[in-house]
Amino acid sequence: MPPTADLIKGKDVSSEIYSELSERISCLKSKGVTPGLAVILVGDDPASQVYVRNKGLKCEELGMRSITVRMPETTTEEELLGKIYDLNRDPSVHGFIVQLPLPKHIDEDKVIDAIDPKKDVDGFHPVNVGNMLIGKPGFLPATPAGVQQMLVRSGIETSGKHVVVVGRSNIVGKPMAALMVQKAKGADATVTVVHSRTKDLPDLTRQADILIVAIGKPRFITADMVKEGVVVIDVGTNRVDDPSSPKGSRLVGDVDFQGVSGKASKITPVPGGVGPMTICMLMANTVAAAENSIR
Ligand code: GUN
Repeated sequence: MPPTADLIKGKDVSSEIYSELSERISCLKSKGVTPGLAVILVGDDPASQVYVRNKGLKCEELGMRSITVRMPETTTEEELLGKIYDLNRDPSVHGFIVQLPLPKHIDEDKVIDAIDPKKDVDGFHPVNVGNMLIGKPGFLPATPAGVQQMLVRSGIETSGKHVVVVGRSNIVGKPMAALMVQKAKGADATVTVVHSRTKDLPDLTRQADILIVAIGKPRFITADMVKEGVVVIDVGTNRVDDPSSPKGSRLVGDVDFQGVSGKASKITPVPGGVGPMTICMLMANTVAAAENSIR
């Protein structure tokens, strides 16, 4: 099918947000506050190294302070908790995150619980998760918040629309559904969550006006699973073999872009879709944390 869908590009949407953030950062600096983001990286997972470097570079580009705390794979849970308590107390660090996944001998929940919710710019602490669910202010998790910004800033009406979320992870699927069901701008949707155990999943995805896919399976959503005119947001990034590429592999989403873009009205590409929004929303949370610190 020839692609007929308009592309929603994370680079365009994030550029708009970055220029707004730059103004807020200048304003903070004029008051003697430089927003500071710390990232704790335990071990040397190669994908995490790349993410952490990109976060640091973006901070510097925006004129924010960036602190990377590298800890060895053999770090004990107590040592990591000790570092978190230090950052909780450090007034120059407005927000921080612990890059996941952590080595298996460290309890992720215990680590997240130790972060001061006022500095939890990942929005993973149960206090922030709870506030999001009941529609109170707090830090929103970056990827779902980024998807919502893409919809709002692309002029896509969500009120009264049927949003189908494919996937139920704590980082994307569940918070995405919680955001879209709120009585709020960029939300007010009727939300269905489908996942690996859902019966007749294609029957449900075909009812979506807006389909948000975060299931972690390459090209899982095919053209026969969507209705004509649907808006498709593809959160997936999967590396698949591709002998025709110089690297021997390439990135694809959870959506079969070629097929689905022939039926959708709007669609996010992979790469270049949701990806750039995640770091952008992390920066937005950090700027907000710095603003909150002088309120
Ligand atoms: N690992 C993959 N995505 C994320 C994220 O958004 N935050 C953290 N802390 N770790 C991650």
